[in-house]
Amino acid sequence: MTKEKNIQYVFIDSGIGGLPYLRHLKEIEPQSSCAYIADTKHFPYGEKTLEEVIEYTQNLVKKIIEELRPSVIIIACNTMTVSALSHLREKFDIPFVGTVPAIKPAVLASKNKKIAVLATERTVNDIYVQNLIDEFGADCKFFMRADSVLVSKIENSLLSGSEEDKKSAIRPAVEFFKSAGTDTAVLGCTHFLHLRDEFKAVCEPDIRIVDSLDGVVNRALKISPPQKLKEENSKLKNIQKDIFYITSEKTEENTKRYSAYADLFGMVLGYF
Ligand code: DGL
Repeated sequence: MTKEKNIQYVFIDSGIGGLPYLRHLKEIEPQSSCAYIADTKHFPYGEKTLEEVIEYTQNLVKKIIEELRPSVIIIACNTMTVSALSHLREKFDIPFVGTVPAIKPAVLASKNKKIAVLATERTVNDIYVQNLIDEFGADCKFFMRADSVLVSKIENSLLSGSEEDKKSAIRPAVEFFKSAGTDTAVLGCTHFLHLRDEFKAVCEPDIRIVDSLDGVVNRALKISPPQKLKEENSKLKNIQKDIFYITSEKTEENTKRYSAYADLFGMVLGYF
């Protein structure tokens, strides 16, 4: 498949985590030109070292800039953002929007000042998150939970699971929020946004669920306002689907599995 050029918004993640962010932008701007790249070859990022995450993210971004020439890259991955965003900004002359755990909104929402953060191992241990806590939540108590099991379930099977499967998958995290006495929990890994409705249904109103979805998408739209399409391009855009690229090897199994995800989000699969 020839790669599309001049795509305005490129979303990246280690896997399918950033898809809800792309979908949200498309809900606001249905005609915008987007692409999604999942670095599935290196999934999961959350269990890699800082150096590995920086290296993989930089290589991916370099190739994206060369081949797709986007107006903005949305790092729809907390792990990539806290680990690599400052390096990317130093190295590449293109606007980036990062995704970090929504600590500030959580601090504003919490009444009892007990806040849970659900993220990957790499994110919960990164100094970036500690700095956010020091800056915005010095008067709060934070309870950090790294949940690679939930990340992997979401990447591998849960999207096609039943409501009961989804609710039982989030149960250990919800128990953690409850036993710590928190009244607010931050979904600090984009994969968890796929289960945002389930988290809200099970936790709210006792425990408020906070995430970065609106903030990230609004920032992307502000940094790169949607381009107005000419009439003929606009007609074309209505029939042309955005591409969901993966970096894994092209195999029948990968095509079957990831085409199903692409389809679910109204996109077509491509290999990057
Ligand atoms: N979706 C990614 C995040 O927001 C992490 C998933 C992974 O471990 O690769 O942190």
